[in-house]
Parts: sequence; structure tokens; C-alpha cells
Amino acid sequence: MTKRIAVAGKGGTGKTTFAALLIKNLIEDGKTPILAVDADANANLNEALGLEVKETIGRILDQTKERGAVPAGMTKETFIQYRLNAALSESKDVDLLVMGGPEGPGCYCYPNDLLKKHMEDLAVNYPYVVMDNEAGLEHLSRRTAGEVDVLYIVSDATARGIRSAARAHQLVRSLKTKVGQMHLVVTKTTGNELEALAGEIEKVGLPVAGTMPYDQKVADYDLHGRPLVDLPGDSPAVEAVKEIWRKTEV
Ligand SMILES: Nc1ncnc2c1ncn2[C@@H]1O[C@H](COP(=O)(O)OP(=O)(O)OP(=O)(O)O)[C@@H](O)[C@H]1O
Ligand SMILES: [Mg+2]
Repeated sequence: MTKRIAVAGKGGTGKTTFAALLIKNLIEDGKTPILAVDADANANLNEALGLEVKETIGRILDQTKERGAVPAGMTKETFIQYRLNAALSESKDVDLLVMGGPEGPGCYCYPNDLLKKHMEDLAVNYPYVVMDNEAGLEHLSRRTAGEVDVLYIVSDATARGIRSAARAHQLVRSLKTKVGQMHLVVTKTTGNELEALAGEIEKVGLPVAGTMPYDQKVADYDLHGRPLVDLPGDSPAVEAVKEIWRKTEV
């Protein structure tokens, strides 16, 4: 059975970093191949994974709207299916699918059912799917990626951040997407902020899976555009995510 992991939270909190380090951990545990899904319109999970993006689903769906885009004799469904296969960036351990945003006006809600079906067909080939969501949770709300076994709501170590995580939690609860477990992850900690934030955290109503501390190496790797999956194993953020996964593994 495919296990689906999703990461959500406010912008800039460390969702992509957490998702990439989770993937690093799964690779090291031999839980491959992994399907990584970048569901952020402003995609950059590929950089954290060191993968090149050839095509995004948003772009493909936009193309199908153009006149003459679909070859004669081909149904729109077959065309989309065929193009979507080309949108998968493959590597030894991780394949990446980037949702992207619509480039033209409007949304790409129209072929949503088709997209959902394709994602489901694709996901069965992988023991793990890791989805990096955008703050608005559009794809979670549309259930593009199916149900979720474990959702990590990521917050930075601020009272405002934790309150925003509480709203994300409420939003997820109001969605039709079935979510197995939900955990809070507090990021970029430098000391025992959890103590000072205990009151706010309690209001979120989620168990704290752990912290992903501020890690100068993460900042340095991002500064130089180096893939986070290449971080050394003894790097504090890497060790922390390993520990979080060990505690919350599905
Ligand atoms: N543990 C960490 N230590 C140091 N810097 C970090 C850490 N986690 C994240 N950052 C930095 O914080 C910034 C935002 O991180 P990241 O891109 O992972 O967040 P995000 O939630 O995915 O953002 P977005 O909403 O823009 O997609 C980046 O510059 C990243 O280098
Ligand atoms: Mg991100």
C-alpha cells in the first residue's frame, strides 16, 4: 500500500526543507522509489532535490486549451495522459511531479478529475508519496493527490506562526480529504522556544512531532543553490527530521 505524506503550513516556514529532508531520510532507509509532488504554484522542491523540471502539469493543462494542441484522432484525455507521463522528472530514487500554476487566466479546475485519476494510477507504483503543499492547500482541498496518511503542519517558532498553523489545522479539518495522522512541526528553533510557545501550541490541538532547528548548513546550501538531500547526516536539521520520522512513521 502506498503511504502518502503531506507537508503544509504558512509561506516560508520550511515546508520544502522539511519535505526534502523527509525524502532524504526515506532514501537512506531504502524506501524507494519515492514520488515527490510539488504542489506549490511557485515550485522549488526540485532544487532541494537536485532535479531538473521539464514540464509542469499546469503548463500541460494550459496547452490543452490551445486550438489544435490535441492531435487529430486523439482524445483530450489520451493527450493529457500522454503529456503527463512526460512531466515526470525521474531519477534513481525519486520521481518528481510538479503541479505548477496555470499560466493563462483562470484556474485549471476543469480537468481535475482526470488529474486526480492520473495521480492515483501513478501513486500505486510507489511505496511513498511526499507532497509539498502551498500555503493555500489548493491541491489538498481538491483532493488531487488522494487521501493522506500523515500530514505535517509546519510552523516557524513564533506565536503568529503557531496561530497560523492552528488555522491551517482547522482548514484541513473542514476539507473532505481524509487525513490519517496530523502533527505539528516547529521549525527554525534556536533554543527552547517550545516552552514559550506552549500556550499557543496547546490551542492548535495537534501533537508536536518535534522541531527542525535552525541549521546554518541549510541556509548555506540554499544560499549556494545546493540540493538539501546532499546535506551531511550529522547536520542538526537532518538529524531532527530523522527523529521526527522515527516517531511518526506510517
Ligand atoms: N532548519 C532551517 N535552518 C535554516 N534555515 C532554514 C531552515 N528551514 C528553512 N530555512 C530557510 O527558510 C527559508 C524558507 O524555507 P522553505 O523554502 O523550506 O519554506 P517553505 O515553507 O517551503 O516556503 P514557501 O512557502 O515559499 O514554499 C529558506 O530560505 C530556507 O533556507
Ligand atoms: Mg516551499
